Amino acid sequence: MIKSWPYPRVAAHRGGGTLAPENTLAGLRTGASLGHKFVEFDAKLSADNVAFLLHDDTVNRTSNGHGAAASMHYAELAALDAGSWRDARFAGEPMPTLAQVAACCRELGLAANVEIKPCAGRDVETGRIVGAETARLWMQAGKEAQAGMPPLLSSFSYAALEAARLSAPDLPRGLLFERVPADWREQTVALDCVSLHASHRHLDEALVERIKSAGLFILAYTVNDLDRARQLVSWGVDTVCTDRIDLIGPRALDA
Ligand code: G3P
Ligand code: MG
Repeated sequence: MIKSWPYPRVAAHRGGGTLAPENTLAGLRTGASLGHKFVEFDAKLSADNVAFLLHDDTVNRTSNGHGAAASMHYAELAALDAGSWRDARFAGEPMPTLAQVAACCRELGLAANVEIKPCAGRDVETGRIVGAETARLWMQAGKEAQAGMPPLLSSFSYAALEAARLSAPDLPRGLLFERVPADWREQTVALDCVSLHASHRHLDEALVERIKSAGLFILAYTVNDLDRARQLVSWGVDTVCTDRIDLIGPRALDA
C-alpha cells in the first residue's frame, strides 16, 4: 500500500472534463493535450461482462442510443456514437473498453483513477471484474510505465470496492462519498483504503483535518473554481478533480 500520495494535485474529471465527451479516448487526449497527468473515469460492465467506460446506468444522455447498459452486449455499445452529444467534432467517438483506456493512458503517460460505477444490482461482479482487469491491464505495461503511480480504484459502492479488494489486493483503494458519513473511519479501515474521495461541497477545514489525521489521503470532486481548489489544497486536500481542466491547469495548485 502507498505511504505517500504519488498522484498529481489535479485530476481531469471523466477524462477531459467538459471540454470533450466524458469517458472517451477523445476526453483522455484532450486532458493530456492541456498537460494533465491524472484522469478520473467511470467503468462498468456490459451484459457480456466487458469492462467499459460510461457514467450513467443508461446510454441515453451520452450517446445516440437508448436503453440500459447492463442489458446491452459490448458490440452493441461500441456501435453507438458517444461523441456527438458534446460536439459534432467528436462524432463517432465510441464508449471505449477498459483495455483501450489502459493502452491510451500508457501512450499518453496518464495516471488513472478508475471509478468503479456498477449498474444497479451488479456491484459485486463489477467490482470483481473491473478490479481484476485494471490490475491485469496496467501490470502488462510494467511498473516503470506507471512511474510510481498505480491505478487508483474508487467507488461509491462499498460492495464493489470490497470485491475489488479481493480481486486486485495490490491496487490502492479510495472510498467515495458525496457527503462524508459519520462512520467514514470504520468503512475506510474495513476496506483498507488509502484515500477518501468526497464532494468538495460538504468538506470543511475541520473535517479535512480529521480525515488526514486518520492517515487517509483526500480527493475532492468536482471543483471548477480555482480559488476554491486552492482553499481545499490549503486545508490538506491532496487532489482536486475538475471539469474545468482549462481553468485549473495541471500545475495550477503546485506550491
Ligand atoms: O470520482 C469522482 C467523481 O467522478 C464522482 O462523481 O458522478 O462524477 O462519477 P461522478
Ligand atoms: Mg466518476
